[in-house]
Amino acid sequence: MNEDEAFIRIKDMIHAEKDLDVSRYKENYLKRRLAVRMRSLSKSTYNEYMQVLEKDRNEFNLMLDKLTINVTQFFRDPEIFIELENVELPEMIRRNKDEGIKVWSAGCSTGEEPYSIAISIEEAADRMGVRTPYYEIHATDLDQDAICRAVDGRYEGRTMDNIAEARRKKYFEFDGKRWAVRGSIKDRVKFVKFNLMEPYKKNYFDLVFCRNVIIYFTRELQSTVLGHYHESLRENGILFLGKTETMLSDFRDRFECINIKERIFKKV
Ligand SMILES: C[S@@+](CC[C@H](N)C(=O)[O-])C[C@H]1O[C@@H](n2cnc3c(N)ncnc32)[C@H](O)[C@@H]1O
Repeated sequence: MNEDEAFIRIKDMIHAEKDLDVSRYKENYLKRRLAVRMRSLSKSTYNEYMQVLEKDRNEFNLMLDKLTINVTQFFRDPEIFIELENVELPEMIRRNKDEGIKVWSAGCSTGEEPYSIAISIEEAADRMGVRTPYYEIHATDLDQDAICRAVDGRYEGRTMDNIAEARRKKYFEFDGKRWAVRGSIKDRVKFVKFNLMEPYKKNYFDLVFCRNVIIYFTRELQSTVLGHYHESLRENGILFLGKTETMLSDFRDRFECINIKERIFKKV
């Protein structure tokens, strides 16, 4: 088997095992992730590495772990959450009095993003002097381990860096080592294992956060996923992309850019 064939074989193994078609991820991204594991085993060819994967279950799982980068943080890119709390949420709270606010955190990793959104909703309502509206946050990710940590909801270290002292005390309980998200916030977030290659709920959400996820996808898969977000958003619903992610030109008539710097788009 030549190297190209061995690389394809590895992708097929992942597809068969995890029902995840990684040929729809950018090839360079996949190769960089595999290289991390190959280096640590001193394997320099896909052929050698494929043979290890065929025999060693543990290595197969380690490789899958490396594939899904879970880097995240509470209030990652704080300026986006400032904009959310000051502009988008007050407008939604005024408009959606009865229906409440429905949010999808797509590619939520270990939960920091959906919990930050929940805190932002609470804070925005507080600042407006109104009762917190009904809201629900659907937080989805492909990575089961990340979902389990999100459900556990206890954090420590740098992931907490962007949370001001007052908010820590209000929304977390410190157990001497870690900060546990309080029940009032946890109850609003529903975590589900879900692959973004599939469509999710139709015409349901007011806000979709999909930050730092589609950057790994091929253009064709980005287009599929952006189509899913468009279908999932209600009229005037808002999409937040990551700071380095761009809206594909084919979608310019379906999403109006309302903040270019923060990559915020409204469903047209
Ligand atoms: C870098 S994290 C981003 C976390 C968060 N959105 C943020 O910006 O901080 C990317 C997440 O996307 C998830 N992911 C990658 N491909 C996915 C797919 N096809 N379906 C669902 N989630 C996926 C990964 O498991 C990972 O947790």
